[in-house]
Amino acid sequence: MGKSQQPQPENIPQHVAIIMDGNGRWALSRGKPRLAGHRAGTENLRRVIRASVEFGVKYLTIYAFSTENWGRPQAEIKGLMHIFENVIDKELDELHQEGVQLRHIGRLEKLAPKLRKKVLDAIKLTENNTRLVLNIAFNYGGRDEIIYAIQNMLKEGVAPEEVNIEMVNNHLFTVGTPDPDLVIRTSGELRTSNFLIWQSAYSEWYITPTYWPDFGKEEYAKALKTYTERDRRFGGVSDEHYD
Ligand code: IPE
Ligand code: IPE
Ligand code: MG
Repeated sequence: MGKSQQPQPENIPQHVAIIMDGNGRWALSRGKPRLAGHRAGTENLRRVIRASVEFGVKYLTIYAFSTENWGRPQAEIKGLMHIFENVIDKELDELHQEGVQLRHIGRLEKLAPKLRKKVLDAIKLTENNTRLVLNIAFNYGGRDEIIYAIQNMLKEGVAPEEVNIEMVNNHLFTVGTPDPDLVIRTSGELRTSNFLIWQSAYSEWYITPTYWPDFGKEEYAKALKTYTERDRRFGGVSDEHYD
């Protein structure tokens, strides 16, 4: 990649969140089984994590399995669980060496005990790393997260008048992670599919028709560059729009 295409550090979004969609269609278009698409998607995830470290992104949140994905055929669900386990086995040491801190958002309870333990061990191993925080959304749903937050506030006896944005933020799975600046969705669907619905209230969106396994470093850099050209107003008016 030429230097001019390399995103400039001062404009990099602090937190990028990605809906990694289109693995199935990528495989189908090649006459391969859907799981081959998920494997290719995982290979691409490696590239995007490394590029995130290189570009200076501080938080990367990836949508890997939604609360609605349980509705898929059993064989696909099993395959996805297996791939998740494999990724931890194969990639953990290198990610740890590169200073990546792994976190999980969503519910671990529903996962097999062996996989759950692997995730918890990986979180423990990497907890002091600071180069990049990688939030893995696995068995994650935005609505489920809000329910989780409400339940915990009620259990703690939080009084109604104490409930405000900060209080809710502190009870979400993403506690400690700033809101995403940029949400990327591959494969062209124009919907949130229940991803970070609270946190993305003022995120910028980049939606591309490219299927996730083909969303490489070049296009990632393009997405980051597009972000730097956006005018984030947060409901206000920017200076140049005053007469
Ligand atoms: C995204 O790819 C990965 C997961 C949801 C686990 P899909 O499997 O949704 O691929 P398409 O959308 O069917 O092409
Ligand atoms: C969103 O993709 C979930 C993940 C990428 C993990 P889906 O493929 O499940 O979303 P829909 O069904 O097209 O909305
Ligand atoms: Mg999909």
